[in-house]
Amino acid sequence: MIIKSRKKSDCAEYEVTDQSTYLNRRQFIQASTVAAIGVASPSLFAKEVGNGLPVPNTISSAFNNIIETPYGASEKVAPFDVASSYNNFYEFGYGKGDPAEKSSLLKTDPWSITVEGEADITGTFALEDIINENQLEERIYRLRCVEAWSMVVPWVGISLASVLQKFKPNSKAKYVYFETLHDPNQMPGQRSGSIEWPYREGLTIEEAMNKLAFLSVGMYGSVLPNQNGAPVRLVVPWKYGFKSIKSIVKIRFVEKMPKTTWNMLAPQEYGFYANVNPGVDHPRWTQKQERRLPGGILFPNVIETQMFNGYAEEVSDLYSGMNLVKNF
Ligand code: MTE
Repeated sequence: MIIKSRKKSDCAEYEVTDQSTYLNRRQFIQASTVAAIGVASPSLFAKEVGNGLPVPNTISSAFNNIIETPYGASEKVAPFDVASSYNNFYEFGYGKGDPAEKSSLLKTDPWSITVEGEADITGTFALEDIINENQLEERIYRLRCVEAWSMVVPWVGISLASVLQKFKPNSKAKYVYFETLHDPNQMPGQRSGSIEWPYREGLTIEEAMNKLAFLSVGMYGSVLPNQNGAPVRLVVPWKYGFKSIKSIVKIRFVEKMPKTTWNMLAPQEYGFYANVNPGVDHPRWTQKQERRLPGGILFPNVIETQMFNGYAEEVSDLYSGMNLVKNF
């Protein structure tokens, strides 16, 4: 990532609110999940939106019926104020506070995703037609940034595999490529040429189909704030945070390893795989430890980094026989 010394304004972790608001909400969700009746959802392919006409985004209605999952149940969740004010979203600037400050004009409704490449079903689909067919789940995951900070976030979304399978990828689909919206009018950071926009990311098809890979449309029981990648982003918890691409508008099934933003910028520093690995340091800093947010100057809350960010049981099979030092 960009190297910069931490400014005082970067993170007011010690000024955070407590978690009671979120926890109350969780209890509410639990109660309403028991009482709720399943929402009937339209067919994914009923409403292709290639005509460019606005389609109302009905995703918010699905939030009445979030399924709680065991993922991360014992984790100490970061307060919402921290997760929504200490962000990396370079389309809105390089400061940690820039995304929250400068993303309010991002128009996230209607939103569509174009699916291309090695799959039987391709086209442009309204986000709600991709998402609403599945019941939303809550998954509490650790997010470990390559900059050596981390936080625990309760995401809302659906498994990435359940979405990708609907497009019926064919045998040539060895990788999945993702792209963020490219619109310098709405994303002021894209007016600078320091990064070749749009932001791009990719996974092997096996990684994308792993049960942990998650397509998030919300956090803390509600829709994603713009600064966290509204209306839809990836969350790949065993990889460094830069793989978790925000505000996705394109998914492409491809045969060859796709070019990805940070790997294009500095291939010697940011690999394609980017698995969290305390045994492989970044050339300019160690990855052995991390600063778990919230934590302030007095209580930096430094913890040991775990292999695959603690998700080895679920994902290590993906890399059996692979040299993880070479394929960092
Ligand atoms: N996606 C886009 N489009 N642009 C970005 O700059 N930053 C990445 C990732 N996704 C980024 C992005 C990085 S470096 C991290 S650590 C995470 O988003 C941060 O997610 P958060 O701000 O929700 O914590």
